[in-house]
Amino acid sequence: MEKFVIEGGRPLSGTVPIVGAKNAALPILAATVLAQGPILIDNMPHLLDIQVMLDILRSLGVQASHTGTKALIDASNMHTAEITEERMKKMRSSIFLMGPLLARFGEATVYQPGGCAIGERRIDLHLNGLRAMGAVVSESGNKIECRAHKLRGAQINLDFPSVGATENLMMAAVTADGITTITNAAREPEITDLQIFLNRMGAKIMGAGTQTLTIEGVKRLQPCEHRIIPDRIVAGTLMIAAAATRGHITLEGVVPGNLTSLVYVLRRAGVQIGIERDIINIVAYNRPRAVERIVTSPYPSFPTDLQAQLMVLLSLADGGSIIKETVFEERFKHVRELSLMGADIRVDHNCAKIRGVPRLYGATVEATDLRAGAALVIAGLAAVGRTIVQQIHHIDRGYESIETLFTRLGGHMERTISIKQDRLASSM
Ligand code: UD1
Repeated sequence: MEKFVIEGGRPLSGTVPIVGAKNAALPILAATVLAQGPILIDNMPHLLDIQVMLDILRSLGVQASHTGTKALIDASNMHTAEITEERMKKMRSSIFLMGPLLARFGEATVYQPGGCAIGERRIDLHLNGLRAMGAVVSESGNKIECRAHKLRGAQINLDFPSVGATENLMMAAVTADGITTITNAAREPEITDLQIFLNRMGAKIMGAGTQTLTIEGVKRLQPCEHRIIPDRIVAGTLMIAAAATRGHITLEGVVPGNLTSLVYVLRRAGVQIGIERDIINIVAYNRPRAVERIVTSPYPSFPTDLQAQLMVLLSLADGGSIIKETVFEERFKHVRELSLMGADIRVDHNCAKIRGVPRLYGATVEATDLRAGAALVIAGLAAVGRTIVQQIHHIDRGYESIETLFTRLGGHMERTISIKQDRLASSM
């Protein structure tokens, strides 16, 4: 059982480059099954979720290697369109393969996916979209079987701009007969990256970044080369960490335009932010100011994936703030852990009311999901004394050696192995 031991209270300082985005890399890896021949993807991060996706691809007969920042994928010799339940359960993004498998083989057998426990996380929008394209989808228990001799273009309106459903349906539609339009589509930058990748393979997609996507089906796709966009959530996590520790850091290789909502909130909190081309400079020597009200919602609004991290900063702010979470129903599990560190937060339905305290104190806490885990690391770095973060496998799903990242910036944290969980041990 690994854990992080963090000695807090040191302002972060220094410069770090930003790695490739997990949420762009996962659908792009799934899309590789649409072509036959070698596909080279650069800026591929080393994450648990990426390992899981590569493992699933290999189980389907795909050749996949990941060395340094490069992944080389060849789906020429795939032998099955069925993913085992055990593999599907390992992460939510396993569902990204449903659309591409159906497009390539005319069938796909998958199971209800697993993933972070942050809400119900249904896949009805994915399934209804495939049905609209002519697929016959049957569900029995957790098993989902999809069949379509040939998918056909359709007009699909998503009830909610789901990132995963938009991506799955884009991938299913690229070789369908005719034109597919997806309205109320998600507009996240990762969708634009997927569009660029698919178009490099020969697809004809327009509209990524807007609410309407138009996909003109083509006969087949070819292999290509691609570089994954930088991870805006990793960048945002570091920006918030710099602000919470009252540090001064520089991020290189970012797309600042993808972080506009966070930059706006941080400036309201009194953080100084300088932006030049692909560089962001964060300076925060003073106690943050409270920010009256922040609402998470789909891009370009404030991202739910930075909600937990921002809550740490606002816990240390001068005054009261409110965060309303509208994307996932159960995404406040970090509140209990932050309270153990001295934060003053009350949750009322999907609103967290935060009364800023002058400081947080080290404690033994548990990462309940990926971004909650990142938030606890930030809290530990900002707190007085020693923090132990347990269940850190959640954090490894989305951050490439987060301890190395923060150590490079002057934080004191290390990964250690404990035989049993400290929280359990101390209560026995
Ligand atoms: C993606 C991101 C995740 C991020 C989330 C919201 C990846 C790999 N993951 O997840 O980091 O937190 O977007 O920005 O890109 N919903 C339905 N039915 C569906 C699909 C979704 O009701 O068929 C609901 C979900 O339960 C949730 C909301 O829509 O409440 C948003 O989900 P969605 O945008 O699909 O998130 P993911 O693609 O799973």
